[in-house]
Amino acid sequence: MLEADNITVRFGGVVAVDDVSLTVGEDEIVGLVGPNGSGKSTFLNAVTGLVRAEGTVRVDGERIRLGRQGCVSRRGVLRTFQTPQVHDELTCLENVLIGVPQRGLRSLPAAWFRRPAMARAERGRWQQAYEALAYVGLAAAQDTLAGALSYGDRRRLELARVYVGRPRLLLLDEPAAGLNQRETRGLVELLTTWRADGGPALLIVEHKIDFLESLCQRMIVLELGKQIAAGAPAQVWADPKVVDAYLGKLVIDA
Ligand SMILES: Nc1ncnc2c1ncn2[C@@H]1O[C@H](COP(=O)(O)OP(=O)(O)OP(=O)(O)O)[C@@H](O)[C@H]1O
Ligand SMILES: [Mg+2]
Repeated sequence: MLEADNITVRFGGVVAVDDVSLTVGEDEIVGLVGPNGSGKSTFLNAVTGLVRAEGTVRVDGERIRLGRQGCVSRRGVLRTFQTPQVHDELTCLENVLIGVPQRGLRSLPAAWFRRPAMARAERGRWQQAYEALAYVGLAAAQDTLAGALSYGDRRRLELARVYVGRPRLLLLDEPAAGLNQRETRGLVELLTTWRADGGPALLIVEHKIDFLESLCQRMIVLELGKQIAAGAPAQVWADPKVVDAYLGKLVIDA
């Protein structure tokens, strides 16, 4: 589904992503890991056109223009952010409604003549938003302001917003960060159920090893912008380069 080849991102003199290539097949769940500052979020930003990048990105074999927002989302590739992007001053239902695609937007005079159809379409959009909230377990919070939600529920709300966009590939940037153990298990269940219901292929950036191991078939490890390992989770964690990258970090932190 996704083929990213030789992606490089420079910020002034810093090479944040250095010649990284990865693919995500249809129905695959791939992990992207690495110590802080290793370029994981920047890689997602490059693929989704939020930063300038060199290299090539293909979705379903079709080459995408880099550095343009919206190019991959039009082809069914959606994402969530490291810090949940929700509007605190809107209700949960309104937050999700933003993600429901608006098909057949018309001019005002055309809309006037098609009022019944427009009203039906609008009701349909609210219904879709409600169903997405129910899917992620937030039906009871539909009228609650997003600002009043717990951190874990904000993450669920963000998932509901991408759910309504019916992605075929979803890029998740640290979806389990800040969640307690129970919430993390709940998120694994939600993503597993979604996959079983025909949900999207997933590319997951995450630090929580258990979380990744229970979901991913394959992982790619970055350090200082470069890929240092790739393979099945058990094989990757046993790789001395990966142990060094993480251990080095732990020692520095200590
Ligand atoms: N907009 C930017 N301008 C300048 N430098 C940036 C920018 N975004 C990221 N960087 C730098 O690029 C490098 C990679 O950052 P990035 O946020 O991609 O890392 P990460 O792997 O997602 O880390 P974390 O696990 O902490 O989220 C870092 O050195 C960071 O300081
Ligand atoms: Mg990051």
